[in-house]
Amino acid sequence: MDTLEEINLKGFVDEYIDPTLDLFVEIERLKKEKNAVILAHYYQEGDIQDIADYIGDSLGLSQQAAKTDADIIVFAGVHFMAETAKILSPNKKVLLPDLKAGCSLADSCPPHLFRKFKESYPDHLVITYVNCTAELKAMTDIVCTSSNAIQIVESLPKDQKIIFGPDKNLGAYVAKKTGRDLVLWNGACMVHEIFSREKITKLKERHPNAKLLAHPECEDVILQMADYIGSTTGILKYATNNLATEFIVATEAGILHQMQKDNPNKKFFPAPPNNTCACNDCPHMKRNTLEKLYLCLKNEMPEVTVPEHIIARAVKPIERMLEISAQLGL
Ligand code: 13P
Ligand code: SF4
Repeated sequence: MDTLEEINLKGFVDEYIDPTLDLFVEIERLKKEKNAVILAHYYQEGDIQDIADYIGDSLGLSQQAAKTDADIIVFAGVHFMAETAKILSPNKKVLLPDLKAGCSLADSCPPHLFRKFKESYPDHLVITYVNCTAELKAMTDIVCTSSNAIQIVESLPKDQKIIFGPDKNLGAYVAKKTGRDLVLWNGACMVHEIFSREKITKLKERHPNAKLLAHPECEDVILQMADYIGSTTGILKYATNNLATEFIVATEAGILHQMQKDNPNKKFFPAPPNNTCACNDCPHMKRNTLEKLYLCLKNEMPEVTVPEHIIARAVKPIERMLEISAQLGL
């Protein structure tokens, strides 16, 4: 097997897998043997979603990470999500199938630059979207996700000055919905900025009854066209509960797996991207594969670690978010 150094360099365990092995059976066996739980985001490959113990949006995954009694959490998602799980459950081993599963949005907010930005607004409270590094969370007053950002801003006094980062699109959407004047960091997600208004309009002409469902990380031009705006869980619930039978989905394409599974008689179309992109896949999310997940559970590597002094500070704004969400029944 690779050395720890080689694993860290590649980001994953690179080991021969017997092609006759049933990975679903092996992963189930290892899960029981090691008292491990698999938490997966909706943007993961379908087979990973199918083997997961829990699939959810960022809020749901954080809630699960905080309450699990497993010894090992295998996080099928991206690095900031696994870090959040580690911060909430520091005594558990948190594994990520590919350590290099990053996030363009988290990368768009380097902590040393955000520190300077924050210093320019000394009387502002800092709300950060969960899609950021642990170091950034450690500089934050309250963390939020796409399913509670509006409520978290609304839970604060009206005259409270607020910095919101790193996603400018989510920030602008929250500012619009709450009527608050938020100071925004100029960050964005590479997947949610590629949707084409013109191509969506053409698709809607061919499917006039289709509802457009959009994630709030999308640009305002797309959100203005949407019939529903929400987190991945919100989008999934809306599609299930709505009487419409056709939906255009403006978020990462992995969510379509669960949407189709829960609604076999409805049709889901990924919102078309502009000409610079071939699909709506997140290259970071899609670094994880069933094979890497199996090897990481088998070898208990690669592991996500967060320095203790960062955990001590970053846990407070995440717990604050979970407390507010619990009070609001989210
Ligand atoms: P949610 O699942 O919380 O809506 O987040 C979407 C996302 O972009 C995660 O990277
Ligand atoms: Fe980050 Fe966007 Fe990928 Fe989510 S979809 S992990 S926000 S790059």
